[in-house]
Amino acid sequence: MRVAREIYLDNSATTRPFQEVIEAMTVVLTRHFGNPSSLHKKGLETEAIIDRVRQEIAKTLGAKPSEIIFTSGGTEANNLAIQGIARRYKKRGTHIITSSIEHSAVLDVMKFLEGEGFRVTYLPVDGNGCVRIEDVEQALTEHTILVSIMVVNNETGAVQPIRQIGELLSNRPKTLFHVDGVQAYGKIPLKVKTDKIDLLSVSAHKIHGPKGIGALFMREGIDLEPLFWGGGQEKNRRSGTENVPGIAGFGAAVRKVFASLEQDRERLERLRDQLIQGIRSSIGQVRINTPEGLAAPHVVSVSLPGVKGEVLVHAMETEGVFISTGSACSSRQKIHSHVLQQLRLSDQELEGSVRLSLSYENTAEEIEEAVRIMTRLVEDLRLLTRR
Ligand SMILES: Cc1ncc(COP(=O)(O)O)c(C=O)c1O
Repeated sequence: MRVAREIYLDNSATTRPFQEVIEAMTVVLTRHFGNPSSLHKKGLETEAIIDRVRQEIAKTLGAKPSEIIFTSGGTEANNLAIQGIARRYKKRGTHIITSSIEHSAVLDVMKFLEGEGFRVTYLPVDGNGCVRIEDVEQALTEHTILVSIMVVNNETGAVQPIRQIGELLSNRPKTLFHVDGVQAYGKIPLKVKTDKIDLLSVSAHKIHGPKGIGALFMREGIDLEPLFWGGGQEKNRRSGTENVPGIAGFGAAVRKVFASLEQDRERLERLRDQLIQGIRSSIGQVRINTPEGLAAPHVVSVSLPGVKGEVLVHAMETEGVFISTGSACSSRQKIHSHVLQQLRLSDQELEGSVRLSLSYENTAEEIEEAVRIMTRLVEDLRLLTRR
């Protein structure tokens, strides 16, 4: 069935590219197609585009342009940071600390490294879905070479105590701090120096940029073992001809998002609160898994016992509202979310979990309409299951 309007509330999975992004990419694809490594004019002009975006991204993070490495996205940035540091500093020690609520682009890398002989500690979370600083402190040993903790959890929106962890690690120069900032970049303030972050992963398609482009910040003075061997691009840290259209699109997204971040964030927080209040007041028997006062402005996780999350996602879709069960990556695998399991939800709550995630393009009217549709559908679905 086709419906006239669409309400897109799956922005943690991906966002609609801004018009400015499409235009910036089109200009590169049509006019600046040279290889940035070429010595002639066409190479130099594409190299200049890359340099400009590198500077812009560095500025948003309080970093130096030379500290930014372009990658194919958040997954590659996480892999490059974790595998690259683990292999480079193996002689210092083989212990790594992470949390049990990381994205699979971190957790699966850790599992892989365990097979290579590394020992990994997976920290639990508290009732809000946040890592406890005491747990990080207790897990540290003289062999710990890396701590990798995300900023914003992609399923619940819970913000992790990154600054305290950075502070804790600041007097341990042999333990590097990697942060998966994919869901936080362009939503909450991140400054690598103040937060004492050594490596940080970001991705363009979560902030209205194109898919397939991201970046890793790596502090000056740190070295890593590359994942790819080849032409030596990105100062030998990431070989492969640069994705210039993607980089140009990433730059356009960064420019637009960071121009009005403060005001937009407040507006987004109001929309999120409107969504949570709307769901709480009009749908009975709900559990909000997004912690109050400790969450990013764009993610709302809800458990609705008596409803199957997947069924609700499809029912909402027929009404033109796009939401998801857990994260986009895990929602096709029919297993319960490893993140929500950490919150010790009941089986019914796990089964009835959905995520609604907002962007700067959503409006209060859309939220009102989405809540109205969701309320009606949840009532209908609960009646069906009771029969
Ligand atoms: C927290 C987190 N890390 C990493 C990724 C992977 O990023 P990408 O899709 O750019 O590979 C995602 C994407 O959903 C994410 O939410």
